[in-house]
Amino acid sequence: MIWIWILLLLFAGLFAFKIIYTISVVAVLPYTQGALFVSTAGVRINAILDALNLNQGQTVLDLGCGDGRMLRAFARRFGVNAIGYEINPLAYFKARIKSLGTRRIRIRWQNFWMANLSEADVIVCYLFPDVMSKLTAKLRSELHPGTIIVSCNFALPGFVPQNIIYPKSSRHSDPIYFYRVNDKRSS
Ligand SMILES: C[S@@+](CC[C@H](N)C(=O)[O-])C[C@H]1O[C@@H](n2cnc3c(N)ncnc32)[C@H](O)[C@@H]1O
Repeated sequence: MIWIWILLLLFAGLFAFKIIYTISVVAVLPYTQGALFVSTAGVRINAILDALNLNQGQTVLDLGCGDGRMLRAFARRFGVNAIGYEINPLAYFKARIKSLGTRRIRIRWQNFWMANLSEADVIVCYLFPDVMSKLTAKLRSELHPGTIIVSCNFALPGFVPQNIIYPKSSRHSDPIYFYRVNDKRSS
């Protein structure tokens, strides 16, 4: 009999989580414009880190940091300051909790369109095609020369990539685009 109650409680918990997930995704749709809370696979994060060579003290911004896994990976590998913007409350709290104890990470519950991104040495994003043109304009006006931009899955219109990688994985091989601001080929 006790097992039936445990199973019922588990199902109720899962159901409640699904409801909270759906509400938090739908509530922020006007801001995310389709970029749902979906995390980048570890194999893709490692491919990004392997393609970069950063110095301690540089600043990495993740525009829509989800559960913060990209921030933790950058901070641990390079000792950089990793800052994430996240508007989905569920993702934000998950990121805060999972990042407890990891140094040099800041997570802001904020719409990145309202933020000034000029402190970035590296921008990372995994957004949605509908916002990429608008993002190009924002990055062009705010980033300093030499800033690296890494865009998962979707290209930035108007920028020419310095590099495109396809991680070696049957399920996670979508392109990852690398740009450098003011590089002659990218502007
Ligand atoms: C596809 S997920 C990527 C998460 C994380 N960057 C990763 O690679 O694992 C996109 C995230 O961006 C967030 N997002 C989209 N638009 C945003 C905005 N304007 N301000 C803050 N966060 C935003 C979404 O809530 C979502 O969690």
